[in-house]
Amino acid sequence: MAIELRDVKFTFAGDSRELLLNVPHWTLSKGERVLIHGPSGAGKSTLLSLLSGLLSCTSGDISVLGTRMDQMSLRQRDQFRADNIGCVFQRFNLVSYLNAVDNIGLAHAFSALGKTSGWRDEAMALLGALRVEQGDWFRPTSALSMGQQQRVAIARALINSPDILIADEPTSSLDAENRDNFLSLLMGLIEERGMTLVFVSHDMTLAKYFTRVEALCDISSGPH
Ligand SMILES: Nc1ncnc2c1ncn2[C@@H]1O[C@H](COP(=O)(O)OP(=O)(O)OP(=O)(O)O)[C@@H](O)[C@H]1O
Ligand SMILES: [Mg+2]
Repeated sequence: MAIELRDVKFTFAGDSRELLLNVPHWTLSKGERVLIHGPSGAGKSTLLSLLSGLLSCTSGDISVLGTRMDQMSLRQRDQFRADNIGCVFQRFNLVSYLNAVDNIGLAHAFSALGKTSGWRDEAMALLGALRVEQGDWFRPTSALSMGQQQRVAIARALINSPDILIADEPTSSLDAENRDNFLSLLMGLIEERGMTLVFVSHDMTLAKYFTRVEALCDISSGPH
């Protein structure tokens, strides 16, 4: 099993409203590609933060690749994420003054792989596969378009060959044609590497690319 949640509850500290997330049981098998959708503010990004260990749940069990993340310290979760999970955030979180290759190198440096000599070639191969033009590889990422930054963020998420890719609205700034090209490319890479994908989007026309489509309200009985 790639992911298993059991009795997971979550509220932001200091938030006196009812639970934001309440997941009785949810599993995702290895190799599955799930599209999670739901209204703005429902808790989709928060769920992804729990799965990637950026946040810890208020109570419950979160197993990722057979490891209990809810029993780890923040530091252990950070290391676990660096080694096993590629993340593409809603606001990409690229280091704007570094170029694409160095942004990818930074993610690589944090993993247990350390700086392997081949990372630079792999970074450039990924940028090429994701159709980032060579002329853009060494420009500060602040000088790239949103669509280009999105593809750099995906390359960064894939550099450590993670078993799981977690992506938050990565197609929101692409037009229909670029979005379809991008998803075909991404799904090709994911299948080739046997990765598991958790992908959040409002855009239900993307459903055909996934093995499973779920509404957040069917996963979690929170207030949405
Ligand atoms: N750091 C935080 N502290 C307190 N509340 C937060 C924090 N981050 C998010 N929230 C609240 O939690 C709820 C869920 O937010 P979240 O970002 O998970 O929604 P979302 O489903 O991803 O929405 P969108 O589709 O707009 O990205 C919102 O009501 C939001 O205001
Ligand atoms: Mg969100």
